Amino acid sequence: MPVKALSAASIPVELPIFMDSSVFGKSVAILRANSLRWDMKLQKIGVSDLRSSRLSYGCMRVAGTWDPADIDQEKREKGKKAILTAYEAGYTLFDHADIYCRGACEEIHGEVLKEIPSIRKDIQIATKCGIRFPGDPNPDSPHRYDFSATHIEESCHKSLTRLGVDQIDIYQLHRPDLLMDPAEVASAFTKLKAQGVVKYFGVSNFLPSFVSALQSQLDFPLVVNQVEIHLGRLDCFTDGTLDQCLEVTMTPLSWSPLGGGWLGTGGTVAADHPELEKRTALLDTLDAIAMGYGVSRTVMALAWLMKHPSHIIPIVGSCNPDHIKDAAKADEIDVDREDWYRILVAARGKPLP
Ligand SMILES: NC(=O)c1ccc[n+]([C@@H]2O[C@H](COP(=O)([O-])OP(=O)(O)OC[C@H]3O[C@@H](n4cnc5c(N)ncnc54)[C@H](OP(=O)(O)O)[C@@H]3O)[C@@H](O)[C@H]2O)c1
Repeated sequence: MPVKALSAASIPVELPIFMDSSVFGKSVAILRANSLRWDMKLQKIGVSDLRSSRLSYGCMRVAGTWDPADIDQEKREKGKKAILTAYEAGYTLFDHADIYCRGACEEIHGEVLKEIPSIRKDIQIATKCGIRFPGDPNPDSPHRYDFSATHIEESCHKSLTRLGVDQIDIYQLHRPDLLMDPAEVASAFTKLKAQGVVKYFGVSNFLPSFVSALQSQLDFPLVVNQVEIHLGRLDCFTDGTLDQCLEVTMTPLSWSPLGGGWLGTGGTVAADHPELEKRTALLDTLDAIAMGYGVSRTVMALAWLMKHPSHIIPIVGSCNPDHIKDAAKADEIDVDREDWYRILVAARGKPLP
């Protein structure tokens, strides 16, 4: 049976507070007094001394909107509850970006850390910069990417303030700026490291040659490349991204590991989707194999990613406490090699050569 049993140490003896979501929003103090927390296995991040849970929690959706003007108290509490649920479920790596609801997602996390400061020592905080929205800073400024030293440094200090922390564990460049000057980025990174406000650096959506160009100017190693990898997006397996992670020991972080939801339990493919037939067959295969392991489709889709020897960390993006807790079970599954290929072939929609 490929499903590994939970260790006794990882099973809370008493469950009441954590299991009763109605208590959650009322008092964080009660939560801490009960100190209930599930363990997840830990893994090294790149060549760093960081040890993260095998799954990360993505905070892009915790404001419940992309418009800060739309955030009300209910949305804020829901976001805080999602972050706390992830913490209690054993996720230690929390992923942000300055642009997520224009900083509000970082602020919501900052509120959680202010209410329960003891959480900070148990988690790693990752955030990103480099994308600028239209209208920033002038009304006619276009949507663009900006890796100028000034923008990187200013963005970092704004994120620190919103999160209410002294140091960011992993600071990532969000999307490749075609005007990137590796030496300029290196000077900004070196300054932030010397100031003690960033521990490690990483990138996102970078092809291997772009990673190498930046790395060539840095005196310290990039530790992550955060890319879109899931069963509907297999490019990283063949475009050199995962090969480079293996070669230089960078950790791949998978964004939208459930494809934004359709791969998760209960998710479906839109009737007018051009790949309706292929994707529906994939979901049928995933359901059948998941049933054999006694787990949900969500868990199977995540465990499939985690089987890769580069130690891909899926960044789970749900704000539903049940979904967040279910996804954490992927930590306990070792997908059989034959099943891994059965799922790959279903995702390709055609046999292997
Ligand atoms: N670097 C980049 O360019 C980039 C781009 C996008 C995202 N990201 C990062 O990746 C993280 C995850 O992205 P994502 O939110 O698109 O990831 P995801 O986990 O693939 O999708 C999450 C979405 O799926 C839905 N969903 C439906 N059924 C689900 C189920 N059974 N279990 C879990 N979720 C289910 C969730 O809704 P419910 O809340 O109702 O469960 C949520 O809306 C983000 O938070 C961010 O940190 C990075």
